[in-house]
Amino acid sequence: MKQVFVKSYGCQMNVYDAGRMADVLAPEGYAETSAMEEADLVVLNTCHIREKAAEKVYSELGRVRQVKHARAAQGRDTKVVVAGCVAQAEGREILRRAPVVDVVVGPQSYHRLPELIARAARERVVDTDFPAEDKFDHLPQASPERTRTRGIGAFLTIQEGCDKFCSFCVVPYTRGAEVSRPVAKILDEARRLAAAGVREVTVIGQNVNAYHGEGPDGVWPLSRLLAALAEIPGVARLRYTTSHPRDMSDDLIAAHRDLPALMPYLHLPVQAGSDRVLAAMNRKHTGDLYRRLVERVRAARPDIALSSDFIVGFPGETEADFEDTMRLVAEIGFASAFSFKYSPRPGTPAAELEGQVPEPVKVERLARLQELLETQRQAFNRGTVGRTVDVLLEKPGRHPGQLAGKSPYLQAVQIEGGAHRVGDVVPVRIARAGSNSLFGEPVAAVSAAAA
Ligand code: 5AD
Ligand code: SF4
Repeated sequence: MKQVFVKSYGCQMNVYDAGRMADVLAPEGYAETSAMEEADLVVLNTCHIREKAAEKVYSELGRVRQVKHARAAQGRDTKVVVAGCVAQAEGREILRRAPVVDVVVGPQSYHRLPELIARAARERVVDTDFPAEDKFDHLPQASPERTRTRGIGAFLTIQEGCDKFCSFCVVPYTRGAEVSRPVAKILDEARRLAAAGVREVTVIGQNVNAYHGEGPDGVWPLSRLLAALAEIPGVARLRYTTSHPRDMSDDLIAAHRDLPALMPYLHLPVQAGSDRVLAAMNRKHTGDLYRRLVERVRAARPDIALSSDFIVGFPGETEADFEDTMRLVAEIGFASAFSFKYSPRPGTPAAELEGQVPEPVKVERLARLQELLETQRQAFNRGTVGRTVDVLLEKPGRHPGQLAGKSPYLQAVQIEGGAHRVGDVVPVRIARAGSNSLFGEPVAAVSAAAA
């Protein structure tokens, strides 16, 4: 049996793709390994969203080169694949910069991996096409055993690419135009996941709430797809990510009120609080539109946990603009968030803008923003102390007898396991909030006699 080592960077889309790459390679006789030294095939599934992400790939390739040389000294061959968005964006340049690499393959072509690896025996290969065929039609399904080893929760790609063209973002170039997968294929994949023991399905896409897939009776929006997914036996929980404020439709907001399986958590990137900056970002929404949207979502589901992405130091951002971001954060209150310094991406419009913000200013603004967001995160976590929340148990906990899981609000929770098992959804009374986890005791279900 040959061995493959797959390392993924960046977003959930890449986590999903990495799994599917392993699925394509399994029928070719590759077993997955977590030790690069053992691998006949090394796949780096890369991210290009920020400068650091791409640089990490080149430094990792340095380590790969050492492993390849060490294995060669023992007479063992190692093929090296760079996949993902850096592969798409840099293509042949990767072969030039990193002689260790044998295959460069973009996110739309990885179903061709077996054939590309075969060709790599003779030549170095680049495939960054956007092929006419649908890669999903060419990807084998994972066996139930393989699916189960990946965990109780699974990602399911329902939409790829983005047509929004935010001026800072490489996604429309690396992942291409927005495409939704047909309803039947998604439901099929979800049924397989559930049959293998998956209890929580997170449907993903770069712009997931723009989903408009072909259904049995016309085009379905995300809300209808979620309702159909909720009907699948075994699926206890549903989530979706990542959404754009402009695509947060009334029916999707209503789903947060009407669908018990849809968890009260929404990742809705706002990026900035200043309307001037939002316009320069080509976000197609204002700060107030976002505030009104949050009000409507909270009216539908008052306890919803909100999460967001922020960029500080976008070209032209003044101190007053940044204060608008801080004000928006203070007004809304986020349960969690990701925040980044603006990083000019080659080929995007914002990279050409005047008024690039100096690095020390970005560093200082990011620190202030992150301090506020961290205070809010901890306040949100403390707010669950004393409450009883359903926890989906995902894996053994830190200590023997403990189990770790997630609250509906995506908080990590540790419990004393008792008779409970991974995969159970257990009501837990939260006793204490640590810095990264909540701790609690399972509450005995109320018996009929007591009720
Ligand atoms: N610089 C900094 N952050 C970026 N993001 C996307 N492009 C850039 C960039 N050029 C952030 C956005 C997005 C998240 C996935 O990454 O906040 O929502
Ligand atoms: Fe990038 Fe904007 Fe599309 Fe998100 S919505 S993937 S930030 S272009």
